[in-house]
Amino acid sequence: MSLAAVILAAGKGTRMKSDLPKVLHRVCGVPMVCHVLSAARQAGCHKLILVVGFGGDLVVEEVGDRAEAVFQPEQLGTAHALQQSEPILRDFEGDILVLCGDTPLVSAETLSKLVSHHRGSGAYATVLTAVLDDPAGYGRVIRDAAGKVAGIVEQKDAGPEELAVKEINTGIYCFKAGGLFEALALVRPDNRQGEYYLPDIIGRYVNEGKAVSAVAGADPVEIMGINDRSQLAGAQLALSRRINRDIMFSGVTMIDPATVYIDAGVSIGPDTVIYPNTIIQGDAVIGRGCCLGPFSQIISSRLQDNVTVRQSVVEDSDIGSDCLIGPYAYIRPGCILEGQVKVGDFVELKKARIGQGSKVPHLSYVGDAVLGRQVNIGAGTITCNYDGEKKWTTVIGDNAFIGSNTNLVAPVRVGGGAVVGAGSTITRDVPEGALGVARDKQKNIPGWTSKKKAPKEESED
Ligand code: UD1
Ligand code: CA
Repeated sequence: MSLAAVILAAGKGTRMKSDLPKVLHRVCGVPMVCHVLSAARQAGCHKLILVVGFGGDLVVEEVGDRAEAVFQPEQLGTAHALQQSEPILRDFEGDILVLCGDTPLVSAETLSKLVSHHRGSGAYATVLTAVLDDPAGYGRVIRDAAGKVAGIVEQKDAGPEELAVKEINTGIYCFKAGGLFEALALVRPDNRQGEYYLPDIIGRYVNEGKAVSAVAGADPVEIMGINDRSQLAGAQLALSRRINRDIMFSGVTMIDPATVYIDAGVSIGPDTVIYPNTIIQGDAVIGRGCCLGPFSQIISSRLQDNVTVRQSVVEDSDIGSDCLIGPYAYIRPGCILEGQVKVGDFVELKKARIGQGSKVPHLSYVGDAVLGRQVNIGAGTITCNYDGEKKWTTVIGDNAFIGSNTNLVAPVRVGGGAVVGAGSTITRDVPEGALGVARDKQKNIPGWTSKKKAPKEESED
């Protein structure tokens, strides 16, 4: 039987106090709504519909073709939001999973369990519920004397007895498509908030004698709805723990996982060791046997095996196997390091391609440069790549040796095996195998010190 999902994501999320639509706030690097979409897809939803409203264009741009978007022009409530999917789902036969875009931790397993329970029970609607120590803010699930679900009451409409109920509506449901939109059309905004409530469908079905079911006992962490920044931080922490645990189970050592933050899209090979205060972001791919941190940030980069990164930042770059980076290196976007490259302390690289075994050990800037193999860059070397208007390239051949404190004024080439004398400002190409020196000849002034230090008169007092 076919399964569609409608994800409600039109709300502004007033309590976030943000210009960004709530569902675009990120948890472990991924917008909340994208977490929900991937869980729904993994649970077997073939058709994904996203209801957008506040900041809808931004949401659609982020989500791309991962879902079909429908626009809810005014946020009149969750039932009204679901109604917006009617043009797409009017003739749909099967089940409709309804999710909220602000529940980023929900897992595909939980959704699959809900769907199979729903199908097994033959109910018209099945709601996922959880029991919370502190149910504040959530709709309460009201059951009859026989323990069957009788309806859902929102916190703001609840009396004292209902408020005491700890079983809550997670906002995640599975409905039979047949009859759903007819029922939605009958929902009235007769409540304290003047909104069209989706949970009203549950009570309505019960009154009509249509079977309603519940899957109780959902993990309170998984179904956490994010309404403010404090809850956002809570979700971040919970997902981060989950990611770290899974990565450790896959063979990665973390010295102090509480201080390690890894985005949802990252993959890490076994026998890599991660030291404290390390952040790995975006779609970074880390090989086997790497040693990362302490205090390192790796953003959307690919590291091959046995790479060491200490106290450094690596962004949008490709790092070959056995490279040594840091401490205190900054590898900016667009760098490609072949194997066994060393980039040492206080070195900044940008759009640099560095050949096998080359070394930039300390205090250098290498940008818009192509270095061959086994090149040695002396301390304090700078590629002067910018003339105020344009960026220019520096090319250095295999086995070249650049003396300390050299300026390479691009565009310029240093040939293979060439040597550049320390302190040179190189403005013309240095041919292969040549020595390039561009500095003043040294001048010594004999006896200068003793002349300068003529004895001073002692003062009287
Ligand atoms: C909702 C449920 C509540 C449940 C809780 C679980 C209702 C009336 N209440 O409350 O029973 O315990 O979720 O987290 O459904 N949305 C729209 N259009 C709208 C209104 C909301 O798309 O017009 C979207 C929001 O963007 C959000 C989701 O629906 O993603 C839930 O809305 P929200 O206002 O957060 O509902 P809650 O008050 O949390
Ligand atoms: Ca909510």
